[in-house]
Amino acid sequence: MKSPALPASAVPLSTNKHLLRWVEKMAELTRPAAIHWVDGSQEEFDALCAEMVAGGTLIQLNEGLWPGCYLARSDPSDVARVEDRTFICSLSKDNAGPTNNWVNPFEMRRTLKNLFRGCMRGRTMYVLPFSMGPIDSPMSRIGVELTDSPYVVVNMRIMARIGLPVFREIDQDIKRVVPCMHSVGAPLGPGERDVPWPCNPVKYIVHFPEAREIWSYGSGYGGNALLGKKCFALRIASNIARDEGWMAEHMLILGVEDPQGERTYVAAAFPSACGKTNFAMMIPPKGFEGWKIWTVGDDIAWIKPNADGELYGINPEAGFFGVAPGTSPKTNPNAIAALSRNTIFTNVALTPDGGVWWEGLTPEPPAECIDWQGNKWTPQIGKQTGKKAAHPNARFTAPASQCPSIDPHWEDPNGVPISAFIFGGRRAATIPLVYQAFNWSTGVYVGATMGSETTAAAAGAVGKVRRDPMAMLPFCGYHMGDYLRHWLRMQRSLTSTPRIFQVNWFRKDSEGQFIWPGFSQNMRVLKWIVDRVHSRAAGRETPIGWMPRYGDIDWQGLEFPEDKFEELQSFDRDAWYSEVIGHEELFIKLHDHLPPEMIYERELLICRL
Ligand code: GTP
Ligand code: SPV
Ligand code: MN
Repeated sequence: MKSPALPASAVPLSTNKHLLRWVEKMAELTRPAAIHWVDGSQEEFDALCAEMVAGGTLIQLNEGLWPGCYLARSDPSDVARVEDRTFICSLSKDNAGPTNNWVNPFEMRRTLKNLFRGCMRGRTMYVLPFSMGPIDSPMSRIGVELTDSPYVVVNMRIMARIGLPVFREIDQDIKRVVPCMHSVGAPLGPGERDVPWPCNPVKYIVHFPEAREIWSYGSGYGGNALLGKKCFALRIASNIARDEGWMAEHMLILGVEDPQGERTYVAAAFPSACGKTNFAMMIPPKGFEGWKIWTVGDDIAWIKPNADGELYGINPEAGFFGVAPGTSPKTNPNAIAALSRNTIFTNVALTPDGGVWWEGLTPEPPAECIDWQGNKWTPQIGKQTGKKAAHPNARFTAPASQCPSIDPHWEDPNGVPISAFIFGGRRAATIPLVYQAFNWSTGVYVGATMGSETTAAAAGAVGKVRRDPMAMLPFCGYHMGDYLRHWLRMQRSLTSTPRIFQVNWFRKDSEGQFIWPGFSQNMRVLKWIVDRVHSRAAGRETPIGWMPRYGDIDWQGLEFPEDKFEELQSFDRDAWYSEVIGHEELFIKLHDHLPPEMIYERELLICRL
């Protein structure tokens, strides 16, 4: 008797023996009901989405209004990254440093083995190959994620290059493959009905830096589950980058084109939900006719010196996993265009006509909708209960290629030249709108000591100022002190170092209102930055760095009174003294790994104050 034919997707799409053996071993451990080799085709994507619609995980949106778009509602307990469940399991605890959770890797492997034993029962295990960076780029890296979540597969198809071309690279055996294990941790018993968003209250997001390996358990959400993003492109890649002399950063990359056609690229590190996507896609305001902003990336940058000692950066991602609330045709029309089709929404509200809505999308909320938890929501209910229609960390997963401002060079295998770094936190007080650091090591100090108020992008309290060096606190895969040393050391491989700036769009007045209009008006600040890079703009020296005077900013097209600008830029000595004490708290933590330059820079700053 002939055995029943395997479905096409069960046939291995790779001949790489290591991969085949690993898949077999992991299937033995996790016991999936089926194995699906992901080819990355549109047909496969459509079929997976159709299955998820049938199973209640996805809702297909109105095809006439939102072509190719779907909505997912997560379990209410699985809505953001879980930093306290994220582990860097280096061989020595010292290598993980005081800002990461560490567990002995042998012990952690034992824990994970127990968690993963049989964890995919009743589910399909997807073999998902992905490339971070364009397939043909020497800066790209590849991984394979084994996951029991079809939601992860369809999101990863937007966020990374996946499927057959990556299997071909794996078969050629040129690039090292980073193994990424992922399970939602919700095995199904025989005949058991699945829930729309399976997950487990026990969560582990684990990195083995020496083995370059990732294991994620219990969550289906964003950075916890799309392992190419924060886990690989930041935590593992930061280890690879340190070893190889390049940088893996939580940064957007954008190009500023002036009316003469000169293009200057900058990379900017803002913590989660602090404005990277908005800045990367900015449309210049009135008064900046002939100027254009080009988007290369909105969240992660891999940056490397070329043979001539110039820094070049790529965006390792292929899509945007952006914050929905606050995104509107007014604040970010480019994002709205990018997410208008072929987009997966997570935890936004559903409107009666089969569309989506979130706070800030339109000035007026819809008269009625279904909130992110699947309950009826009206503006009245919102007012009475304080409930939001969309979760504050609701996200859209949209192809980068659909963004009208996408840079013609965004997939250039060699990347784009980086002329400046910008650091920016969310700070209601103390930090001015913009200033320039005196030089590279002062600039590294500015990035290293950046503080920001926490946001909904991570589980936990919102609005507390914490030190977030280079916006990498949750993402640096090794000792933060060594990371700062790596930044300082990068200068040696550069013929000219990018200029370094700090910005703060979020300063508030005594009434608690943002002083700066932000969004497209940030162009005025960016122009000053670009002009400084090209030695065309003036500024005044202050204890913290170079600051623009009112007259150094281009105000064409905006009425912005000088006294308000002075309030934004004001420098309060006492506030800065307490700020420096905040710096010290971080430095004490990092103590024996802290580069001496950071101590000297702090001393110099105190002297200047
Ligand atoms: P991650 O994807 O979490 O890394 O976030 P991000 O840094 O890309 O943040 P994003 O651009 O999505 O912005 C997050 C929030 O900040 C949104 O609610 C925006 O509306 C708001 N925001 C962005 N830029 C500005 C600005 O210039 N001023 C003000 N006041 N708010 C802003
Ligand atoms: C962030 O939190 O910085 C994000 C979203 O970009 S997530 O991918 O969930 O980490
Ligand atoms: Mn981010």
